Amino acid sequence: MKIRGVKGMNDLLPTENPAWAWVEERFREVFGRYGYSEVRTPIVEETALFARSIGDSTDIVGKEMYTFGDRSGKKSLSLRPEGTAGAVRAYIEHSWSGREPVAKWWYMGPMYRYERVQAGRYRQFHQAGAEIFGVADPAIDAELLVMLDYLFREVFSLPGVELRLNSLGDAEARPAYLAALREVMSPHREALCADCQRRLETNPLRLLDCKVPTCQPLVEGAPTLDAYLGDEARAHFEAVKGLLDAAGVAYTLSPRLVRGLDYYNRTCFEFVSGDLGAQNAVCGGGRYDGLVKTLGGPDVPAIGFGLGLERLVSLVSEAAPSAPAPALVMISAGDDESFQRCFRLTDALRRAGVSVDLDLRRGSVRSQMKRADKSGATYALVIGERELEEGEAALKPLRGEGEGRPVRLELEALVAALGEGAA
Ligand code: HAM
Repeated sequence: MKIRGVKGMNDLLPTENPAWAWVEERFREVFGRYGYSEVRTPIVEETALFARSIGDSTDIVGKEMYTFGDRSGKKSLSLRPEGTAGAVRAYIEHSWSGREPVAKWWYMGPMYRYERVQAGRYRQFHQAGAEIFGVADPAIDAELLVMLDYLFREVFSLPGVELRLNSLGDAEARPAYLAALREVMSPHREALCADCQRRLETNPLRLLDCKVPTCQPLVEGAPTLDAYLGDEARAHFEAVKGLLDAAGVAYTLSPRLVRGLDYYNRTCFEFVSGDLGAQNAVCGGGRYDGLVKTLGGPDVPAIGFGLGLERLVSLVSEAAPSAPAPALVMISAGDDESFQRCFRLTDALRRAGVSVDLDLRRGSVRSQMKRADKSGATYALVIGERELEEGEAALKPLRGEGEGRPVRLELEALVAALGEGAA
């Protein structure tokens, strides 16, 4: 029986990777410009880290993690379902708050969730994300959102991506709100979906963003968090909105926007696109001021986001390159005697910084020229018996300026000529 890849875990083939690389390069560049440094944490962490940060009662921890014992049988480990928990663990473990009062970290990499697979939802997916530690000021919330708005609108030319914004308030105000929510929703218990019946007990906040059609009208009448925000949380949210308005960043207030992870407080947000179908969130994040302390670190405020790269790549597919760049020069040997010279020349040119391909299928010059043309190379260079005798070969432009007008070059000077040209 043929062994197939694991369901929901995709191969990224050579035809897809130019678009991925294009997206990743842009992230690296923009993160650098906005003052972020890269962090790489392991894909595997202790299960307890995710349970304590994302929350025991969340879908992610309750039913979506890939969890296994290590060989000693003493530790429960999990593949990371997201990047924040590992970043916070590393921040604490390396006493980073003592090194840098403000740390701006970014990461990119695979995450794992055992979810129901559908378009845009996978079991291995990739996120580009960032976490900022040490700033309580609402200006950092706005700065983060301004950067994301710039990325979507200008860098990736996606004007259809919309920012949805909410404040979850502070932890102190949460119990009063949850009590009110339970009171209003409990009489509807029987009409709620099975997940929401469970959430009513364990995590009532998640009732608000249930996507099941029969739950939605029931939730419409539920109280929203905005009436329960404390004075400080309200002032914080007003300041964030004020800065976004001043920066010309458009947003929609979404009082029912809650997130699937428990660590958030105050500002939370998602960027959604109508072009993504049911899985419309391309990015999500928010503040998590209590998490560093909860995990045993100092009392340091924090905020961050995670952005789904599969979803982003599907949105930018038209603007991004769809094929690997062809070689600049395709070299063809006229006959077996010349092949050795071509072989050496190819390597010398590659070392001189020129992207070169050598036709290893050989055969007639005619068929090699056809292949050179099809390969997308800019130039073809044929070296055969005659070229070796004359010490010269014709560099033939296959496309663009000069097409059909070969340039004669001395074989001895080829590396210098093309190497310089490429520089
Ligand atoms: P999240 O909303 O769970 O947040 O995930 C962020 C993004 O990852 C989503 O908006 C979506 O684009 C993508 N994503 C999530 N699950 C899948 C999946 N199964 N298949 C494809 N894409 C997916 C977090 O992960 C938080 N750690 C974000 C954060 C960072 N908050 C603060 N700092």
